[in-house]
Amino acid sequence: MKMDVLLGLQWGDEGKGKVVDFLAPKYDVVARFQGGPNAGHTLEFDGIKHVLHQIPSGIFRENIKNIIGNGVVLDPVVLKKEIEELKKFNISYQENLFISKKATIILPTHKLLDAAYEKSKGEKKIGSTLKGIGPTYQDKIGRLALRVGDLLSPDFNERYEALVDKHSAILSFYGSDLKELPELEEDFFEAVEFFRTLNLIDSEYEINLSLQSGKKTLAEGAQGSLLDIDFGSYPFVTSSSTMTAGACTGLGVAPSKIGEVFGIFKAYGTRVGSGPFPTELFDEAGELMRKEGNEFGSTTGRPRRCGWIDLPALKYSIMINGVTQLFMMKADVLNLFEEIKICTHYQLKNGEILGRLPFEMVNENILPVFKTIKGWNCSLAEVTTYEQFPVELRDYVTFLEKELNTPIKMVSVGPDRKQTILK
Ligand code: GDP
Ligand code: IMO
Ligand code: MG
Repeated sequence: MKMDVLLGLQWGDEGKGKVVDFLAPKYDVVARFQGGPNAGHTLEFDGIKHVLHQIPSGIFRENIKNIIGNGVVLDPVVLKKEIEELKKFNISYQENLFISKKATIILPTHKLLDAAYEKSKGEKKIGSTLKGIGPTYQDKIGRLALRVGDLLSPDFNERYEALVDKHSAILSFYGSDLKELPELEEDFFEAVEFFRTLNLIDSEYEINLSLQSGKKTLAEGAQGSLLDIDFGSYPFVTSSSTMTAGACTGLGVAPSKIGEVFGIFKAYGTRVGSGPFPTELFDEAGELMRKEGNEFGSTTGRPRRCGWIDLPALKYSIMINGVTQLFMMKADVLNLFEEIKICTHYQLKNGEILGRLPFEMVNENILPVFKTIKGWNCSLAEVTTYEQFPVELRDYVTFLEKELNTPIKMVSVGPDRKQTILK
């Protein structure tokens, strides 16, 4: 059996959580492979909205193993809070949630470092979620980090202190005070106690053995391809590999074991935080998208920047991920638009027209070249099948499929589990 991968093709918040929850009944295992509490994955069903940060989005379905893989950076305090939320809904995390011993732990000082680094960047700040992601991955790559399995080691506290000493030296260089630290540490150690009672496993064995025995696994990406550490709009990116290859290293699954790759994208574009966004709108159209799409961050509440769909960027994401099926989200957000714009190319300052992403996304003044199409300009509330879609929406889907050379197998028309139309 091969492992399917689901990931975001834009700058995150494409609706991955909704789709994982929708698809989960077809799977035995759902596994997160990178990122950490910077993610906010929203699920809506039975009139209730749930936001998950580190726990895989299969957790609300019965009989599914949800695994947090080795590639994830985990904040014990956030995890404890998330589990407390689940308990309110009688979700059996003892049976259904498993954590890799090789996942990396976010310490309180990682969060302080995140804030110090961002502050020092001034206007050039990344717009990080300040959850400690960058500094924790730095320590992982720097071979300093503490891992989940270390929680079980008798010298955990000494190793913690040694790392915090290093962090304190860096923090004092940045002029940060450590006033908050004792309070943060109190919460941290309380959460660590709880953490030790969870199912801590060798997830690479678990996943490979379950694939061998014919069980179906879905890898759930966080963030999006344009935030990828290698291929995103560097340095305005996150610190992990958000692409299909990241699912291999973040779970210990060989490339030859990858099956379908589901690419999730919005019918338009959004971005939170700083960095280039060629199709960004600064007018009423952007405002309307933000309002209709409720485009405010699930993790930080920040307003999301909004703009038209960007085909050069989507083609790039499809290429680097080997996407086999596309799912288009939030079509309903465009209901009020009489016209819809599609960015087909970029025009550079020197007049050059490009169909691909230039190396220099950050300082290059990229002008989007748009094709304008007629919008459907009506409600999709009553639509339950693809055939019932207004012809303009079907034309939009057909145009995108042709341009992107990949089938769009699902269109989402609302946040609820049920508002999902298969094609
Ligand atoms: P993720 O990070 O990719 O899981 O996405 P988020 O949960 O951060 O953001 C997606 C937002 O859009 C959430 O508030 C979802 O409830 C909402 N959403 C998902 N699909 C649709 C849709 O088809 N239409 C509308 N209007 N909202 C949607
Ligand atoms: P999900 O999984 C959207 C953005 C931040 C910032 C940059 C770096 O919900 O799609 P970090 O905290 O990783 O150092 O921030 O990446 N970012 C996201 N944007 N969705 C996310 O996750 C994001 N996770 C990080 O806003 O610009
Ligand atoms: Mg999100």
